[in-house]
Order: sequence, then C-alpha cells, then structure tokens
Amino acid sequence: MRTFRFLPLLLPVVSGMLVLAPIVASGGDPLFATTRTDLDTKDQKRVATVTRPASDFSKPEQFETMSAGASTSRADINSNAFSHFSANITFAEEETFKLGNALFTKLWVSSPSSTQASDGLGPLFNARACQSCHLKDGRGHPPEGSTDATSIFLRLGRPARTEAERQQVANHDALNYPDAVYGEQLQDLAVPGLKSEGRMKIAYEDVPVTLSGGEVVTLRKPTYSVSDLAYGPLEADVTLSARVAPPMIGMGLIQAIHDTDILAKADPDDKDGDGISGKAALVRDHRTGELKLGRFGFKAQNASVRDQASSAFAGDMGISTPDNPFDHGDCTKAEKDCMAMPTGVQARLGPVEAPDPVLSLVTFYSENLAVPARRKIADKTVLRGKELFYQSGCTACHTPKFVTSRDAGNKAQAFQLIWPYSDFLLHDMGEGLADGQPVGMADGQEWRTQPLWGVGLTQTVNGHTFFLHDGRARNLTEAILWHGGEAEKARNAFAAMPKDDRAAVLTFLESL
Ligand code: HEC
Ligand code: HEC
Repeated sequence: MRTFRFLPLLLPVVSGMLVLAPIVASGGDPLFATTRTDLDTKDQKRVATVTRPASDFSKPEQFETMSAGASTSRADINSNAFSHFSANITFAEEETFKLGNALFTKLWVSSPSSTQASDGLGPLFNARACQSCHLKDGRGHPPEGSTDATSIFLRLGRPARTEAERQQVANHDALNYPDAVYGEQLQDLAVPGLKSEGRMKIAYEDVPVTLSGGEVVTLRKPTYSVSDLAYGPLEADVTLSARVAPPMIGMGLIQAIHDTDILAKADPDDKDGDGISGKAALVRDHRTGELKLGRFGFKAQNASVRDQASSAFAGDMGISTPDNPFDHGDCTKAEKDCMAMPTGVQARLGPVEAPDPVLSLVTFYSENLAVPARRKIADKTVLRGKELFYQSGCTACHTPKFVTSRDAGNKAQAFQLIWPYSDFLLHDMGEGLADGQPVGMADGQEWRTQPLWGVGLTQTVNGHTFFLHDGRARNLTEAILWHGGEAEKARNAFAAMPKDDRAAVLTFLESL
C-alpha cells in the first residue's frame, strides 16, 4: 500500500508572508500543485486582483451581485429560490438537470414492490428521498414536535482503538469507526417487518448571554441521546453527532475551486499568529482511492459531490449505487433481521438498486443548483455591515471570493468569480459547538467553515431560521454567538458592538 508523509502546509518566509509548501507523497511527488496550473501568469494576476479583499465599503464591488458568476440565478425571490439550475448551462444540460431533479425528489419504496424501478429503500433508513432532508433544495431543521426528526440525524462514530486503526486513520483509509451494531448513523425508520434502530432525543438547556448595551440573548444548548434502542446498547466509546441537512446551492462551484486556493489559506500550526489556523482535510476519493481535498459535509469528509451523493444513497436511504454496492445500506452483521430482508436489486438492471445513470443524474443535479443573486448590495446598512464583517475577522474563515478553475469538469463552472464566504477548511470552534466525534483529520471540536451564500434566504425558502450543523441556533445572532475557539475573537467583537452595528452585520448576512 502507498503511504504518505505530510509536511506542514505552510512555511513562513522572511517578509512575514506565507508561501505554500508542497504536500508530498512518500515518493516525493507533490500531491497538490503549489501554483494554479490552469492559469497563465497574466490570468493569475487578474485572479489575484478580483479576489483581493474589499477595502472600500462606500460602494459595492464590481460583480458583487452575482454570487456565483455567470451561473447565478436572477429568478424572482420566493420559496423556490434554491431550486433553479445554473443560469449558464446548455439546453441539453437543462434536460439532464430535470431528470436529476425527478430522482432527487423521488420517494423510494421498500422491496419487493409493484413500482420496481423505485424499490430498494432501506432496510433501515432516515428518509425516502434526498428532498425529504434537503427541503426545497435548502436546509433541514431540528425536530419540531416529537415525530419530526427526518431532516436531522445522528452520526455514530468511535475513534481508533488500536495502533493498526490509528495507522489506517493517519493514512486516510478510514475516517473513524462505526458502532459494531448500529453502524455509521442511527436510522430511526425501517421497512415494514423490521424494527428501526431507535429514536434520537434532544434536551435543550437555556444559556443566557449578555451583549453590549445589556441585550440578553438566550442560547439553547442541546444534549443528544438515543431512546428505544432496538438491538442493545451502543458501544461505550461511540459518540453522537447531530447533523441537519445543509442547503444544496453552489455545490459544483465549490468543487471547481482550485485546490491551491484552498490550501493557500491553510495554516494548521498558526504560523502567522493570527489565532486562526485552518486545516485542509485530506480524504480518499471513493472510487479511485486517490487523496483529495475534502470540501463537502460538516467535517469536509467528502471530496466530491458524487461521493457525498453515493454516501447519502447508502446511509440515509439504504440504496446501493455502483460506487457503494452494498445493498443493505447501514445494516451490520449484528443486525441479523436487517440482513435477512429482501433488497431491491433486479438482475435485469444490474447488481445495484440504483444502477447507472441514477447516481450521475443526481450528482449533476446537485452540482447545478444555482446560487441566487444578492439583494440590496448598495444599501448603506448592508455596506456598513459588510465593513464590520471584515473588521471583526469573520473573513478570516468566511473567505469572500474565489475564481474557480479553468479546468472544471463542467464548463458552466469554469473560471467564475464566486462569493461563497467560506475557506472550506477545518477550524476549532471551541467546546460549545464540539460534538466530540473525530472524522478523518477533523477532531471533535473542528468544523468546516459553512458557506454563507444564500444564508439570508433561509426564511424565504425554508420558513425558519435554524442555523449551524445541528440547527441549534434559532437566528443569525445565536449562530454567531455560538462561535468559539478560533472564532472567539470575532464572536466577541460582534457581542461588543453597539446594537445598531450588530443589526448592520445581520442586514449584510441577510443580503447574501
Ligand atoms: C436523512 C437526511 C438526508 C438525506 C435523505 C440526504 N441528505 Fe444530503 N445531507 C444531509 C446531511 C445531514 C448532510 C451533512 C452531512 C455531514 O456532514 O455529515 C448532507 C450533505 C449533503 C451534501 C453536501 C453539502 C455541503 O454543504 O457540503 C450534498 C451534496 C448532499 N447532501 C446531497 C444529497 C443527495 C444527492 C441526496 C440523495 C441521494 C441526499 N443528500 C440525501 C442529510 C441528508
Ligand atoms: C475560525 C473560523 C470562523 C470565523 C472567524 C467565523 N466563522 Fe462563522 N462559521 C465557521 C464555521 C466552522 C461554521 C460552521 C459551524 C457549525 O455548523 O457548527 C460557521 C457558521 C456560521 C454561520 C451559520 C451558517 C449556517 O448556514 O448555519 C454564520 C451565520 C456565521 N458563521 C457568521 C459568522 C460571522 C458573522 C462571523 C464574524 C463575527 C464569523 N462567522 C466568524 C467558522 C468561522
């Protein structure tokens, strides 16, 4: 097996600037380029100019309305705002997008069924369609009432126990280890005739926080547990990590950001001493086993939209795909009843429940959900909020802009100036947000910076304002106040602002 040795990603140079040092394989070949191989020198300069941080807050920047470059949707803003296709795809691609949409919203059924092309669900599952969690292509929410836990679930995982396991994780061959009985996530639903695994329980505790000017905000601190476990106890070192489905916009563009541009911001040992480190997550491509930069999921555990989608088919719905051919989803050997249930595999369609081209279509769809255009970018309060967002250090992680790679797989996503407001790196967010669950290179306090494009449309699209990985924040103020660890300074700057300035930051976020 190939083994990899990692050097620190960044080395300081005399000027105090940081330069990129290559991450190399044991053979000495760099795994990632240190300069953008897709651009000539002239284009590199152009890119550096347009991605330079804003310095004049008296007016909007050029192209600022178009959060996702030419792919930005300019459709009317309503509850369908996240469901449009990239504005610059071809007519033929629109048709592909529509086929993908049908599969994204399709309700899978248990086998055997009369509608054979839709069966294969489970045996254990959390939802019957992608759309059940990514509601309106937007985000899910924590349960409202005791029965509504669909768009959130508990990931189960334990750290390495033995030297051999530690080695596997260090080699990126495992992210962590599933529970021996319940697997990688708790499925609270099951096909008829099978018991579901158990129920997720949340208890909230009020934590009052006083802001400058005396305003008191009450945060709700969640504690997660499981009741009605059907197959005995969880292993003692397994942790529970609650995850709400995030919005689906701009995924293809995130994938098209050049590795170099993400790595350039990584500073795992905080060599520049700004209190913000930022670690690039290296993960294996599910099909090729190649080491790639993780960008998707709350712990940056997936390198591609396709890997995220095949994992969702398997873990969330129990559907096998060519990339993930196990047809009993997240059943384990210890769950004998589950393993004995029929599957949806049909010999005439091939060895998996969702044969080609299902996964490719769903992937294409997921890659091409457009980011809506910004609103009110020239509004005085928005500009003031933007200035405060920069001044408070929010941009240290929520990187405003990138220009995507010219070599992007889909032309529509190539060489676009995009404004995701994320560095796609892992940051220690403190104990408050910690789930205690290590995932690959992310430890139990680290999370990938959440992109902020579209964040201001959450109410419009999803009818609520629950934020953060588990939806604990009930509005943007609470989301910011939960920031700790590397983000504590920025959080404190926000808490210390006069009320009008805090309101301006929120107005800016609402314009994204
Ligand atoms: C049971 C709820 C659920 C279902 C069903 C579901 N997802 Fe997700 N999805 C999530 C959650 C939760 C995450 C965050 C994952 C994590 O970090 O563990 C996520 C993350 C993603 C992401 C990455 C988003 C980002 O910002 O990095 C993509 C892409 C995605 N899902 C696509 C799909 C597709 C395609 C399907 C259907 C095949 C699907 N999902 C079905 C809950 C769900
Ligand atoms: C050290 C890096 C870092 C800094 C600095 C930072 N953030 Fe974040 N931000 C994150 C991470 C990581 C998350 C995701 C945390 C989670 O889901 O638990 C996040 C999430 C958010 C969210 C919720 C997004 C969503 O979709 O749920 C908002 C809003 C936000 N940040 C705003 C801000 C503002 C405003 C500032 C400055 C006052 C700021 N952030 C500073 C890293 C940072």
